[in-house]
Amino acid sequence: MKRKKLRIAVQKSGRLRELSLKFFSDIGISLSEETDTSRALIAQSCCGGAEFLFVRHADIPTYVQSGVADFAIVGGNILEEGQFEVQQIATLPFGECRLAIAVPLDSPIVSASDLDGERIATSYPNSLRKFLRRERVNASLIEISGSVEIAPALDMADAICDLVQSGATLKENNLQTVFTIFDSSAVVIESPYQHFLKNSLRAAILNYKAVSEGA
Ligand code: PRP
Repeated sequence: MKRKKLRIAVQKSGRLRELSLKFFSDIGISLSEETDTSRALIAQSCCGGAEFLFVRHADIPTYVQSGVADFAIVGGNILEEGQFEVQQIATLPFGECRLAIAVPLDSPIVSASDLDGERIATSYPNSLRKFLRRERVNASLIEISGSVEIAPALDMADAICDLVQSGATLKENNLQTVFTIFDSSAVVIESPYQHFLKNSLRAAILNYKAVSEGA
């Protein structure tokens, strides 16, 4: 059966969730006020033309790639880490962060070659492997899915590769950045499949982008 409504995927929880909902509200698609925003995984827009899917951040491109969702907002870091067939249609002025390699304040590691033979804890193994290949460095990867900054203090790793936004988590854990692998921000992605309502929403997204860039 053909879906009548557009579907939009956003982060279930995390730093992009509220900013993503505000973006869609600014272009005319707001969450229905009847939604229990702490629990709902699918919720209607207030005029009923679209539904929001609240899903894990790392899964967002999969929903869009398969056409289950038509549009979504996701961090560019997720797209860098995976291989997805989705179209990036706009870069948004929020969610700015960077993927960085950081080491303890008293570490002798100051250049990429110093990472040779060292242990690096990360939740971004693909991006890190690509960086190490480019720098021709051999290091051991320790894959953990969160709170990566704890690893050096526990002597589990000599360095970490993780997202940095304000830098507060690094500071709190006596770590400092030695390299930035890439900069990231929120992006709007679109599925490769057709839906009769897609054109008008795409136009609103691109118009918002043009207005916010002062074009
Ligand atoms: C992210 C990231 C860092 C932290 C950086 O973690 O993994 O730990 O934010 O932010 P800051 O530079 O502003 O301190 P998140 O809070 O998303 O949780 P996680 O550890 O589960 O990834």
